[in-house]
Amino acid sequence: MTRVFAINGSPRLDKGNTGLILSTFLQGLELNGAEVDLFYSSRLKIRPCNCGHLYCWNRTPGECIHKDSMQEIYPIMKAADLLLIATPVYTPLPGDLQNFINRLTPLLDPQIRFREDRTRAQFREDVQISKIILVAVGGWWEPENFDTVIRIVQELAEVSGVTYGGSLIRPHAQYMRKAGQLTEEGQEILRMIEHAAQELVQFGEIGMETLESIRQPLVTKEAFLGDWYQS
Ligand SMILES: Cc1cc2nc3c(=O)[nH]c(=O)nc-3n(C[C@H](O)[C@H](O)[C@H](O)COP(=O)(O)O)c2cc1C
Repeated sequence: MTRVFAINGSPRLDKGNTGLILSTFLQGLELNGAEVDLFYSSRLKIRPCNCGHLYCWNRTPGECIHKDSMQEIYPIMKAADLLLIATPVYTPLPGDLQNFINRLTPLLDPQIRFREDRTRAQFREDVQISKIILVAVGGWWEPENFDTVIRIVQELAEVSGVTYGGSLIRPHAQYMRKAGQLTEEGQEILRMIEHAAQELVQFGEIGMETLESIRQPLVTKEAFLGDWYQS
């Protein structure tokens, strides 16, 4: 049984494109036997990491000084096998989600070592997470818009000493719907997302072909620009 801790960083909660893709992915994971906990960073009270002294490493190891929503979710996160970070690209991240990522620091054990010449920590012994995956949507045309967000999630996995399990990205996600209804291509993308969930639970990873089909262009660059100026 895989336990999934999912956080959705979209201020539009389940109504946005992040919510559409994430809910399909999570349903797919549950159908394949995973147990899911889902939180919305903009609904939680997450103060910024601002003691400035790494107290959670030096003074009160593993404990953050801020008493807010993070205290309720730390135990749930620690028990999860998979951390799933879902977000719209906001050049690069919505503020609440960035606060969430910063506040993961107490979960890290600062027994620093070099891995591939980079300064790295690892999750503390009581943290079960072994993989981190990104689900991201963007409004702009090209997949390169996601590079910074992907790098942030890869870096998080690398500094925590766990596997980066890939990024499920959907550029110009708004083209999955027309007048509020899913288009045929939109439905096909959602089917591929269900397939990605199945692959993840069955094989421990999502195939490149599946990821490619989820990010495929739904409109030409020229049509994208035309629509932009017409709307
Ligand atoms: C502040 C802000 C910054 C954004 N920056 C980018 C960006 O750099 N690249 C991109 O592809 N989309 C960008 N977008 C568009 C959103 O990613 C897009 O509208 C997405 O569908 C929003 O997700 P949601 O529907 O879950 O709210 C930005 C949107 C906002 C509000």
